[in-house]
Amino acid sequence: MSNERDYVLGTHDDELNRLGLQHAVWRPHCTSAWTRAGFTAGQTLLDVGCGPGWASFDLAQIARERGRVVAVDRSRRFLDALEAGASARGLANIETHERDLDEQGLPDVQADGAWARWVFAFVREPRLLLERTIGALKSGGTFVVHEYVDYRTWRLSPRSEAFESFVTEVMASWRENGGEPDIALDLGRWLPELGCEIVSERVICEVARPDEWWWEWPRAFVAIGLQRLVDLGRVSEARAAEMRAAFAAAERTNGAFLLTPAVLEIVARKK
Ligand SMILES: C[S@@+](CC[C@H](N)C(=O)[O-])C[C@H]1O[C@@H](n2cnc3c(N)ncnc32)[C@H](O)[C@@H]1O
Repeated sequence: MSNERDYVLGTHDDELNRLGLQHAVWRPHCTSAWTRAGFTAGQTLLDVGCGPGWASFDLAQIARERGRVVAVDRSRRFLDALEAGASARGLANIETHERDLDEQGLPDVQADGAWARWVFAFVREPRLLLERTIGALKSGGTFVVHEYVDYRTWRLSPRSEAFESFVTEVMASWRENGGEPDIALDLGRWLPELGCEIVSERVICEVARPDEWWWEWPRAFVAIGLQRLVDLGRVSEARAAEMRAAFAAAERTNGAFLLTPAVLEIVARKK
């Protein structure tokens, strides 16, 4: 897999499947935002940093056969999975573009809508990518984004030093690779600067308990993300074992709960 363009979270199978679970948990928030943005049948919808296409599949169903989804990512592995998934689902209206968004522009599509989630946090030039995303929209087109605005809201009760250090390490690893976890703090300011009108904005920060569906999202990230920190050499096996144990102990604690890392959702319209 020498040509694969990996990034800090990886493009291996466990991560690909984790992204699927993550999208399943987040889907109600996505569909609500896409509805408010006016995404509908017959449109051209851009999925910026689409990954293996979990959201692209839903967008393709919204666009229907007479519309299309233009899905862009730099990972060949993820795009291969997207293409296989689209074919398995009988979706013929998704086109994929393999592009490194730090180095290349977006396809010139004049889209009706654009969607991006958890990609601005990883690119080196997020403002340039935002400019290009807005540039790929037709006038009146809408942009929906979900990115973290305050990753440190990810808290666990009972409190745990090992877990808080895990959150610190995650944020540091993204920054070390040229990203910025709390990138939505900038996006919210840049969109009006780039001539967009804000249609709606809200913070999404859930409270989850171990027996609830939302807990599955952080649970999967602790499992896969922690192993990734070990593989990247950021966290020792011994320290990872302590972090894993802290999370597992919380799961067994009566009354335990967590707050998810806060995401800012913005729906914006190009004037
Ligand atoms: C956390 S995943 C999110 C995927 C998808 N948006 C989702 O919500 O399921 C981040 C994605 O950004 C992509 N990515 C990171 N840096 C990129 C870059 N410079 N150019 C293009 N894609 C990039 C990765 O390949 C990965 O698919």
